Amino acid sequence: MKEINYILEKEKEILLHTYSRIPLDVSHGEGVYLFSKDGRKYLDFFSGLAVNALGYGNKKIINAIEEQIKKIIHLSNYYINQPQIELAERLIKYSGLSKVFFTNSGTEAVEASLKLVRKAFGPDKKIITFSNAFHGRTYGSLSLSGKEKYKKHFAPLLANILNLEFNNTEQIKKNLDDNTAAVYLEFIQGEGGIRLASKQFIEKLDELRKKYGFALVADEVQSGIWRTGKPFAYNHFNVEPDLVITAKAIGGGLPLGALITNKKYSDVFKPGDHGSTFGGNPVACAAGLAVVEQIFKNDLMNNVENLGDYFISKLKLIKNKFPNKVKEVRGLGFMLGVEFDFPCSKLVDDFRDNGILVNCTSENVVRILPPLISSKENIDQFLKVFDNLLKQ
Ligand SMILES: Cc1ncc(COP(=O)(O)O)c(C=O)c1O
Repeated sequence: MKEINYILEKEKEILLHTYSRIPLDVSHGEGVYLFSKDGRKYLDFFSGLAVNALGYGNKKIINAIEEQIKKIIHLSNYYINQPQIELAERLIKYSGLSKVFFTNSGTEAVEASLKLVRKAFGPDKKIITFSNAFHGRTYGSLSLSGKEKYKKHFAPLLANILNLEFNNTEQIKKNLDDNTAAVYLEFIQGEGGIRLASKQFIEKLDELRKKYGFALVADEVQSGIWRTGKPFAYNHFNVEPDLVITAKAIGGGLPLGALITNKKYSDVFKPGDHGSTFGGNPVACAAGLAVVEQIFKNDLMNNVENLGDYFISKLKLIKNKFPNKVKEVRGLGFMLGVEFDFPCSKLVDDFRDNGILVNCTSENVVRILPPLISSKENIDQFLKVFDNLLKQ
């Protein structure tokens, strides 16, 4: 601990203090586990914030990266990039949409989508977002945020953005019209506290889209790539978005994001309208290809679907056992949240002291994002610790 405190102090001297660092000094990862330098083993149900879908040290990802590195590490986007083409084909297949633009992160994919929306609809039409939404930290994506605490020091933000209450059907009926360019939403909000869009809300949104012709933009940065048991969270609803944004798990741990457009929006950008030096880096795309291949080869979508159901049903039993402590259990697949009446950061520390990594979001929601390779035994270990912590 003395050593960790020293490192944390050193960090404060030399790094901008943007992260509330947790006192954990990791030596390496293996499968679903992280190991600290002081020899402790942690079941990682945070997955690097939904990035490490296949856990740590996956041989196929490592091989794909090694092979690509030997060929070429970086290639300018002026040249043909084979891994980009292959990964784009996969994303088109899984989404049912039409074309892809690669970025290095989720927020950059959101920026790309905002430029596309502005170009398609002009500067004056409004863009709709929702309460508690999180779309990233750069100026455009921050402007879409539904959380005041992230925006408050950074005005002026983008103009013509209207934030409505998530799942409030009356509000969208009142505010969406001919003057609407796009509606951005997470079908399951991550940072916002694992909140699901209601079926009724999405049906109304789709109805209004048909009437007014705005673009429906699904932010699948956290929920995409089978985290909920399906390729994207919107696949749980009867709707096909116009634009889909994904990142995190798609790069196998390397920086990668993607904007996927349907046919209607696939020719809005012309050469020179948008670009990125590193976006769609061949090594990141090769890693991404390994991720999706492994998800299929190991039938991880079914693992997530079945064990996700098991996990949530057991969490609900725990809720019933401790009705004064647990307020609500929510989620889909391996994207789960447990809401408390009190701030949960201390509980997350207690989990860590008991060898389990999770995170606290929206002050009082424990966010659980296991790697997609997690087993029933891993989940049972979590449940046992959770039950014990609540007993105390
Ligand atoms: C839904 C959602 N959108 C966008 C982002 C921003 O992604 P990134 O951190 O890769 O820029 C995040 C990050 O957590 C996210 O959860």
